[in-house]
Amino acid sequence: MSAQKEKPKQIEFKLLSMPERLEKLDKYRRQIVIGGGPKRIEKQHEAGKMTARERLDKFFDLGSFMEINLFAGRPLTEKMEYPGEGVVVGFGTVNGRPVYAFAQDFTVSGGSLGHIHAEKIWRVLDLGAKNGAPVVGFNDSGGARIQEGVDALDGYGEIFYRNTIASGVIPQISVIMGPCAGGAVYSPALTDFIFMVDKTSYMFITGPQVIKSVTGEEVSTDDLGGALTHNQTSGVAHFFAEDEDTCLEKIKALLSYLPSNNLEEAPLVPPREPEGNPEELLNIIPDDPNRAYDVKKIIRLVVDGGELLEVHEHYARNGVVGFARINGQAVGIIANQPNHLAGCLDINVSDKISRFVRFCDCFNLPIITFVDVPGYLPGTDQEYGGIIRHGAKILYAYCEATVPEIQIILRKAYGGAYLAMSSRSMHADSCYAWPTAEIAVMGPEGAVNIIKRDEITKAEDPNFTRKKLVAEYKEMFANPYVAATLTYVEDVIDPRDTRKKIITALKMHANKRETRPRKKHGNFPV
Ligand code: HXC
Repeated sequence: MSAQKEKPKQIEFKLLSMPERLEKLDKYRRQIVIGGGPKRIEKQHEAGKMTARERLDKFFDLGSFMEINLFAGRPLTEKMEYPGEGVVVGFGTVNGRPVYAFAQDFTVSGGSLGHIHAEKIWRVLDLGAKNGAPVVGFNDSGGARIQEGVDALDGYGEIFYRNTIASGVIPQISVIMGPCAGGAVYSPALTDFIFMVDKTSYMFITGPQVIKSVTGEEVSTDDLGGALTHNQTSGVAHFFAEDEDTCLEKIKALLSYLPSNNLEEAPLVPPREPEGNPEELLNIIPDDPNRAYDVKKIIRLVVDGGELLEVHEHYARNGVVGFARINGQAVGIIANQPNHLAGCLDINVSDKISRFVRFCDCFNLPIITFVDVPGYLPGTDQEYGGIIRHGAKILYAYCEATVPEIQIILRKAYGGAYLAMSSRSMHADSCYAWPTAEIAVMGPEGAVNIIKRDEITKAEDPNFTRKKLVAEYKEMFANPYVAATLTYVEDVIDPRDTRKKIITALKMHANKRETRPRKKHGNFPV
């Protein structure tokens, strides 16, 4: 062996110039931005769906979207397996207001959720909560990335945790624009609102094939978990859109009514007069108290521009809930709908109303309640289904709320249902009644049959006697004046003055402060 050591070889580093570095940056960017590539993008379009980036581009104000963590994920190589990790996240403005968003990219491994994909979603949820801005999530995914096993499940778990902690702090909106199955459905379910697009989106815990193998039941994907099913039947979704463009516009409309977070007020806009002539308010409620009418006609004649953005429009139609403006101020509107099940309270409408009351209370939106309710829906279905515990949700939600609450009694306000619908006894702030209001323990016929049973059965002409007694009862009790003399309503008003009264009441209660005893949290009757 020679004693002389070999000279080490010189390692040569190629020094890149700025243009070369920019070229590399641009190459990586383009590689990620193209997602799953032209073929998969084309497939997405053929299915009537936009890509994740197209959705974000259309959703945000022109040029305002700024992507976060574009490079997150696997090492940047010539052939990236999961460009962008199958999700695009970032920040932008919608009508000039800040919003965070994530959009799952179905062209990359079916938008499946791996750990880094999840981390990108956590990031925008954290940023939204910390900076007080809504988070909108566009869901289009085959669920947990199977190859990542429990790591992917942790991804979901941490999303659920963040959804829950941010609940009531910032508005969270889920938009389903493709598959959303298995445990993945629970992030949307933990957020405030779910939008679904007809024909291209679906949600279910177990799909048609599993159902068939377990129960033998055959059902199509759309019938099981499509947009119509969840908007009409299950109540899981709050908004239905015919296509993705309409859906994006609806989300923007919803955001326009909401404050960015729980410490802000909703934006004020220039007031507009309602749709139509207020004189029409005199002709909507039929003279016959047993005839139905559409309460939305009344709402449109009271709110700015006659515009009501209904939530759960197709679900539990015996109640109407939604956002509107009065004198430029965003409010929550709640009403019984006599056109459907006579406006009775049942299990589903209890969920619909109580959830909406709680949302408004979280985000400082005054609540205006229009009452025409004959009572709780009778029947074994309702009793066995737990109308007692479901009905309690409405009482709890109104009692718990500390935002201004204004009640307008239009016609029937009977029994426990009267109490539930934002009554004075539940500490509503201002209660008004139309001259058509009937505020009583129960309807005249039922009441007379109970308290005058002897007199009716012993009468020579029981029918005539019943009718006479019903008329007397109506005169005595089924009117707004007993409640007014006892101060349960502040005023009996001309229907044409409804809007004026609400505007004044909103001013009266604008600085309302109501505190509650210190506690961890109440035990909402779920
Ligand atoms: C990894 C997935 C995937 C997944 C889809 N892909 N889902 N990769 N993990 N979960 C991939 C496919 O392999 C395929 O890759 C590409 O995405 C597109 O999928 P296709 O099947 O070709 O698309 P399509 O025919 O439109 O069907 C879409 C689909 C189907 C209905 C979503 O892919 C499907 O059923 N996927 C599995 C769904 C599922 O069971 N997920 C787990 C749910 S349980 P290539 O490379 O071939 O294009 C869950 C638990 C969450 O999510 C628990 C939270 C607590």
